[in-house]
Amino acid sequence: MAIKIAWMKGDGIGPEISEAALRVLEELARKHSISYEVRFYDLGDESLKMRGTPLPSDTVEGIAKADAAIKGPVGESAMDSIVALRQKFDLYANVRPVKSYRNVPHVKDIDLVIVRENTEDLYKGIEFSIGSSAFAIKVISEGGTRRIARFAGQYALRRRKQVTVVHKANVMRVTDGLFRRVSLEELKGLGVQVNERYVDAMAMALVRDPENYDVLLTPNMYGDILSDEAAQVAGGLGFAPSANIGESHSLFEPVHGSAPDIAGKGIANPYSMILAVGMMLSHLGERRGDRALLGASSDLEAAVERAVASGSLTPDVGGSKKTLEVAEDIVMQLRKG
Ligand code: NAI
Ligand code: MG
Repeated sequence: MAIKIAWMKGDGIGPEISEAALRVLEELARKHSISYEVRFYDLGDESLKMRGTPLPSDTVEGIAKADAAIKGPVGESAMDSIVALRQKFDLYANVRPVKSYRNVPHVKDIDLVIVRENTEDLYKGIEFSIGSSAFAIKVISEGGTRRIARFAGQYALRRRKQVTVVHKANVMRVTDGLFRRVSLEELKGLGVQVNERYVDAMAMALVRDPENYDVLLTPNMYGDILSDEAAQVAGGLGFAPSANIGESHSLFEPVHGSAPDIAGKGIANPYSMILAVGMMLSHLGERRGDRALLGASSDLEAAVERAVASGSLTPDVGGSKKTLEVAEDIVMQLRKG
């Protein structure tokens, strides 16, 4: 049965990196005999301009019906589009792998995954003013913490079996205190090595000794901040994919935004979006126990390694290739490998 994919190209560089990723997906599907069907939907600033809403109802329905969804970055309407989708489909786990490549200038060797709770914390959006002061409510629930901690533990079992719980429980005693206590409880007995770091110390460690970490488990906001930092340590946002995973739905996307400063020039780095396609195939492969999908995702990973090693890089990381040239180089590696 064909995999049904809902695809939102998004704003700025979104359409450009989508075209590159679609090209690579086409070749992967051909090589691994995967049958798939892509339907395109509107999302973001362009949708707001053309249709009066950044998140039209047919987009929500399309995602609801699809096996998986993938989106390019959106612009200023991110809160009303992507953040809204995370809440609507209860996509509670935000997974952000961060990996450095030998040929890409990076601060330190790094190979870790940030597993960030994706629906609670200060990003719940409960903000208000009283008089001349502004307030935000930080929501951390026991149930929300348990499920993300379990997810992080299970993810670590497939890697180097180490989870670091990131929090600030010495100051936020009640909210982060709960996140810490419940996470440690839930991770006990899962067969992973568990430790903890305060978020400020973790920010330092990401620059000092990132090689000592495997899976970082964080509440929503700390994970948002640390993942941009970690991506830069690895060589920049152009290589950072992410997954938003829920019980019944999943949505894949680059970590970065719509990069208006380089949009339309054909020089955006497409690896983030192409690696997001890889995460989608591996997630679907695992959920369905489908070897072809799993094989395609590891094939893609290896082809990306070879393309990067051969110097197929865009200007943001010191190369001179265009967005679509990188896609063609990866296709060539897939044909060779
Ligand atoms: P940004 O991530 O779009 O850009 C930051 C810097 O990184 C820019 O210099 C940009 O050129 C560069 N960059 C990002 N991705 C790149 C790529 N693939 N290749 C080459 N260079 C790349 O962040 P910024 O400028 O803060 O935000 C721009 C817009 O994106 C805003 O409207 C923001 O709301 C939105 N945004 C959307 C997100 C989403 O769709 N999930 C996430 C983050 C921001
Ligand atoms: Mg962010």
